[in-house]
Amino acid sequence: MLFYTMANLFTLTLFISSCSSFRLPSPSRLTLTLHTLTPTSHEETLNHHSIVVNSFPEIVQKAVDDILLVTGEDSWQPSDLLSYPPKEGWKESNEGLSDELLVVLIGDMITEEALPTYQTLLNTFAGCSDPTGSSPTPWSQWSRGWTSEENRHGDLLNRFLFMNPERIDMRSVECTVQHLITSGFDPGADRDPYKGFIYTSFQERATKISHGNVGKLAKKVGAENLSRICAYIAGDEARHEIAYQGFCTEILERDPEGFIVSMGEVMRKGITMPAEMMQDGHNKNLYQEFSSVAQDLGVYTAFDYADIAAHLVRIWNLEKLTGLKGEADKEREFICKLPDRYRKLAERAEKKKEKGRTNVGPKDAKVMEKTFKWIKKRS
Ligand SMILES: [Fe+2]
Ligand SMILES: [Fe+2]
Repeated sequence: MLFYTMANLFTLTLFISSCSSFRLPSPSRLTLTLHTLTPTSHEETLNHHSIVVNSFPEIVQKAVDDILLVTGEDSWQPSDLLSYPPKEGWKESNEGLSDELLVVLIGDMITEEALPTYQTLLNTFAGCSDPTGSSPTPWSQWSRGWTSEENRHGDLLNRFLFMNPERIDMRSVECTVQHLITSGFDPGADRDPYKGFIYTSFQERATKISHGNVGKLAKKVGAENLSRICAYIAGDEARHEIAYQGFCTEILERDPEGFIVSMGEVMRKGITMPAEMMQDGHNKNLYQEFSSVAQDLGVYTAFDYADIAAHLVRIWNLEKLTGLKGEADKEREFICKLPDRYRKLAERAEKKKEKGRTNVGPKDAKVMEKTFKWIKKRS
C-alpha cells in the first residue's frame, strides 16, 4: 500500500476504512443455540460448522458486493499495468533488481499461479462450496469472484517476468508452477470452514505484506513499474484479508467455543505457506531456500508471522473474550500468548543467524545460480 501514488493511497485508505465497517448490525441470536451442541465426530463438527457459516448469507453477499471489485471493465486488469511492447526505458528501469529480489518475485509469482489449488481447497470447506460450478449462492459467488481477482496476480507477475528474458529462465519457472499445481497443498483445514477462514485470514495478510515489501524494494532501485504492480496486488490482498477476517468475526460471535478450539488447532499446526511443496525437479530444498532469501531481504520474516498473529488476536478481541466454556478458555489463553512467543523465537533465531553470518548482503552469484535455475547468469 505504501507504493501507491498519493491519490491511489487515499482511495485505498478510504476503501479499506469503509470495508472495516463490513458487518451486519447484529447476527441472528437464533444461531447462538448451535454452539450448545456437542459434536462428537469430525463429520458432526463439519455439519455444525457448515450450519453456522450458512447462518450469515447477507454478510457473505455484502462481501461479494462491497469488497470484491466489480468484474470486468471497471476492475483493474493486468494490461493496465503492463503493456507490450514496453514503454521506452522500461528495461533499463529494471536493471537495478537484484537476483535475490527476482528470486522472491518468482517465488511469489509461482505461489499465485497455483491458484487452481486454492480454489479447489475453498470448495472443500463444508457449506461453502460451489456445487454446480455456477451456483448463485453467496458462498459460490464469493469463491468465483475471489478467484477471478486472484487470477490477475499470477497473470501480471508472469507477464512481467516473461518480459525479462535476459534475467529469467522462464521454462524453469513454468516447470516449477506445473510441479506445484500437480503436488497440491494441504493447509490442514480438514474441510472445516472455521479452520479454512482462520488460515486465509492469516495468509491474505501475509501475501499483502510480501507483495508490498517486494514493491518497496523495487521502488528503491528505480523499478517503478514493478513497484506499482506489487502495490496493486497487495491492495487486492488487503481487501481479501478484510473479508476473511470479517467472516471469522461472524463465526466467533455465533460459535465462540468452536472458533477458538479451531484456531488453537490451526495455530498449533502452524500456518504454512501455500508454496511449501514447490520444486523445480532439481533442487529438493527449493522452498526453504526461497523462504530464506525472502527472510534475508526482509520481504516476509518470522517477525511478520508474530505480527500477523498479534493482529488477529487484536481484531477478534481475544484477550477480552469472556465466558468461554471448557477447554476453549484455555485455548484462548494459549492463542493470546502466541505473538510474544513467536517474537521471542524470531529474536533468538535472528541473533543466532547474526552470529553465524559471515556474508551479509547479496548471496554469492555461483550459489544463486546453483540454487535457483530460474535466474540466468548475468553476462
Ligand atoms: Fe494473490
Ligand atoms: Fe490472496
